[in-house]
Amino acid sequence: MGRVQDKVAIVTGGASGIGESTAITLAREGAKVVVTDIQDKEGEAVVARIREAGGDALYLSHDVVDETAWIGVIEKTIDTYGGLDILVNNAGIGLPGAIKDYPLERWRELMAVNMDGVFLGTKHAIEPMEKRGGGSIIILSSLAGLRGSPGLAAYNATKGGVRLFAKGVAREHAASQIRVNSVHPGIIDTPIWTKMDDLAPSMPDASQFAPEGANKIDVDAVATAVAPLGYAGSPQDIANGILFLASDESRYVTGSELVIDGGMSA
Ligand SMILES: NC(=O)c1ccc[n+]([C@@H]2O[C@H](COP(=O)([O-])OP(=O)(O)OC[C@H]3O[C@@H](n4cnc5c(N)ncnc54)[C@H](O)[C@@H]3O)[C@@H](O)[C@H]2O)c1
Repeated sequence: MGRVQDKVAIVTGGASGIGESTAITLAREGAKVVVTDIQDKEGEAVVARIREAGGDALYLSHDVVDETAWIGVIEKTIDTYGGLDILVNNAGIGLPGAIKDYPLERWRELMAVNMDGVFLGTKHAIEPMEKRGGGSIIILSSLAGLRGSPGLAAYNATKGGVRLFAKGVAREHAASQIRVNSVHPGIIDTPIWTKMDDLAPSMPDASQFAPEGANKIDVDAVATAVAPLGYAGSPQDIANGILFLASDESRYVTGSELVIDGGMSA
């Protein structure tokens, strides 16, 4: 208990999956957590769970592609909790598709959420963190930010992009003690997979993992086949790594990559 005691954190995409687990974990360890998302009912429910467990949290409706909304989220965080110490840039989407048929609008939508969202959050977190004498920015990249995957080349571009963005900002703001690290989950059992209903047809080598005639990938079947540890990770497995990067235990860690993938990249 208390590994991030009294720190103030923002978790984007905190209504579901990895963001939900992260918000709950940081609150359990003593942080005051601002949960943001576009899924308001689910986000409010996460905050209600944190409060029921005795934690301190606030939900804000927030589309990460909107710069004005980001300014409002940071202001509300400072008004409510007095500052900002931790930003978890977690909100993300997967829009699969073979590149030869990939529409430009789809590409731009993916770039907007997965890259613009990370850029905007990081940009607006710097000043309040400087005022605190430092902070920790955690960026959700992916195993797909380290290597290519058929059907996910556009997603690869976003996750590879934020991986190196993290390193650039880490060096730019190291003197201010603002640490910036990327996290690289492998196959984690969250709703993101069920939202990618068109992944299987664009992934010829993975179609064996989708039930016959179905578009949806069976996450457990894929993980069993391809993750050396033999199963899909849980959102908590990722939240545990994020907690380390958020806490002062990682005070000498910046510009680094935390891979949590059941051995897939080994
Ligand atoms: N699940 C995996 O296997 C896996 C693997 C590698 C990386 N990731 C990354 O982890 C992060 C979290 O994914 P997850 O698996 O928990 O997915 P998820 O779909 O369960 O959660 C993502 C959350 O982001 C929110 N979101 C989407 N667009 C948004 C926007 N414009 N503004 C604000 N919120 C928005 C969604 O509403 C949702 O609550 C993502 O960045 C994802 O790319 C996931």
